[in-house]
Amino acid sequence: MFTTNQSTLNYPYQNADLKISERIEDLLQRMSVYEKIGQMTQLDITLINTTGKQKDVILDPEKARDLIRNHHIGSFLNGEAVKPGTWYRFMSELTRIAVEETRLGIPVIYGIDHIHGASYLEGATIFPQSINLGATFDPKHAHNAGWVTAAESFDIGHHWIFAPVLDLGANPLWPRFWETYGEDPYLASLMGSANVEGVQKNDDIRPLKQAATGKHFLGYSDPRHGWDRTPAHLSMQQIHEFHRPSFQKAIDAGLKTIMTNSGEINGVPVVASHDILTKLLRDEMGFEGVVITDWDDIGKLVDLHYTAGNYKEAVYSAVQAGIDMSMTPEHLEFNKSLLELVDEGRITEERIDQSVLRILKLKFELGLFENPFPRDDRFHRIGHPENRQKAFEAAKDSIVLLKNDGNLLPAKQSKRIGLFGISANSKRNLSSGWTIAWQGGKEERYPVHMHTIYTALGEEFPETEIKLFTKDDVPDAKTITDSEKKRFVNKLNSFDLLIFAGGEEPYCEFTGNISDLSLPKDQLNLLKLISGSETPVVLILVQGRPRIITELIDDLDAVIHAGLPGFEGAKAIAEVISGKVNPVGKLPFSYPMHPNYLVPYNHKKSNLYSFDPEKANRIVKTNDSPSLFPFGHGLSYTTFSYSELKLSSEAIRQNGSIKATLTVTNTGSRAGTETVLWFISTHVGRITRPVKELKHFEKAHLHPGESKTVEWMITPETLSYPDENGRKIIEKQSYSLIVNGLKRDFKME
Ligand code: BGC
Repeated sequence: MFTTNQSTLNYPYQNADLKISERIEDLLQRMSVYEKIGQMTQLDITLINTTGKQKDVILDPEKARDLIRNHHIGSFLNGEAVKPGTWYRFMSELTRIAVEETRLGIPVIYGIDHIHGASYLEGATIFPQSINLGATFDPKHAHNAGWVTAAESFDIGHHWIFAPVLDLGANPLWPRFWETYGEDPYLASLMGSANVEGVQKNDDIRPLKQAATGKHFLGYSDPRHGWDRTPAHLSMQQIHEFHRPSFQKAIDAGLKTIMTNSGEINGVPVVASHDILTKLLRDEMGFEGVVITDWDDIGKLVDLHYTAGNYKEAVYSAVQAGIDMSMTPEHLEFNKSLLELVDEGRITEERIDQSVLRILKLKFELGLFENPFPRDDRFHRIGHPENRQKAFEAAKDSIVLLKNDGNLLPAKQSKRIGLFGISANSKRNLSSGWTIAWQGGKEERYPVHMHTIYTALGEEFPETEIKLFTKDDVPDAKTITDSEKKRFVNKLNSFDLLIFAGGEEPYCEFTGNISDLSLPKDQLNLLKLISGSETPVVLILVQGRPRIITELIDDLDAVIHAGLPGFEGAKAIAEVISGKVNPVGKLPFSYPMHPNYLVPYNHKKSNLYSFDPEKANRIVKTNDSPSLFPFGHGLSYTTFSYSELKLSSEAIRQNGSIKATLTVTNTGSRAGTETVLWFISTHVGRITRPVKELKHFEKAHLHPGESKTVEWMITPETLSYPDENGRKIIEKQSYSLIVNGLKRDFKME
């Protein structure tokens, strides 16, 4: 027998006029230990739906009842893209069981990977993935992505967004590279915190609120060998300097939750690291919100990292390290083990209370006690044209023109275009994973209105015949005979333009592990074959990480890095090709030249020293170009010149500042936007310094012939960097300010 809390209870914690701290205090003392542990548990949708399959968003009330009423489970996650009404029914029933059929009526909180729009909701607006948002160098787009995600998903009962990824795109082999904002900590900080604010400060969903998740705390993105969840070796100094800033900025912006890194750093799995989850995150960085593990991170201590002999010991180490909630996610072992640990006195109830307090605070702050139920009267906002326009603007700004020999692009309305490649007529390739489903959906699950590159080009070039070459239309480049080759290439000579849309098919997490960053062989071979014709070739790279193309770069006339531009992306690409859009995107990472030389732009000075065979046995400085295209590279259909880089003084004092000014001129023949990137180089440092560091950026929109003077204040703070304890060092040294090849030196006195 159960009684509904609505009819029989009237406790202080239900009184919205009281302070949240008073309500929590009242509720906590009414809860049993097992009820508290239930709040610390997050289980997968497959345990409460009818079929046990991810894509099934139909609640099995009996399963849900058992978990919520008997085991007090406070949170669930996951699913796939279904219609708003389906989610609405699922969340309404789940919520009703929690708030009406339990003793205390604590609402459940539902977490979901809506990482670039409400990606598990049919009809939702889908933004470019984060690597593209990084390429816009415009935090407005990251903010819009968060804002639209919240606006389109709160009503269906999704309160907890598992984004943004605040990991640094430090290793391009890493299969989650595209989930990051790129390799620079400053850029990632601005984009990540803007996204958090978009999700969490969305006035449109008032009085309710939604929580963002900074993930995956921390150092996840830099495994030595590049594969998912493999060991990273990072000094504390590196952590403070490169991996902490994006999380810190998001925390300072009010980030409510953090998800842990499932991997290990220096031999210690992060989920069991008190140093990282408590000393660093709580004591030093000041995080007060909820820390949730990633998927089965506690189990991974037993069967991936082998630091715990059994599940109970794994629970012990993760709870003692500082986690609040376990994404368990497919069984009740966490609850059972934690209860035993409390009964045995190994984990105190005070320790449990710390976490439950944070979880309840989150639920109170989000307004779930007052407004736990989803609503179905605002579904018209899902996929609203205004939201899609925002995604389209972001997609347009994220396309990077890497190469454009002889101003091949913008392309004229040609008579015939030949279109090749795995992404030429694919919707799913434009968004990769975490879209429709974990590994991306099947092609037919994508919106009917969505363009592929082929259909978008068709719209953009109405007078042009576009011939789509499918797999069956192209010879196998490996077995082709010379005469077949000749015939094929001759056929291509009759086209005015050849476009190859290649790159990668969707992947997510470990399914994207690769051992060679080169563009796959079959694509390289076909591209070589095609570029043997006299017709100019444009390569469009639809990919989540920079697949190496060095061996054929000279054969290509133009190269566009489209990345993963999302549902509005094909149109954005087509408009760049036609010239309706003048490209503004810049690479948020260094595009590698060689598969075994993966070095970010902010590498150390010693990275450039090598043995020179010409000068027997001498170590010399190699040329400053470890990448095929450097960080920040991106062409426009106009040209910009930079001049008059000036400093208001040649010395900066403590508490002082220097004003830097610079003139940017549009020297071409059409309007365009230039992103000005300001770098600082520290000449000598106690800890080895990067060759340069991005410290500021801004946009200048300029008409032909127009000039603009931009300025930036350099302060001692901008020059500082952390030591191994996270304390700021400011060197009394000489520095250079570097902007697009211009350089001015100054000193800190
Ligand atoms: C991923 C997280 C994700 C979680 C829930 C994990 O495997 O690493 O990024 O949020 O699953 O789906």
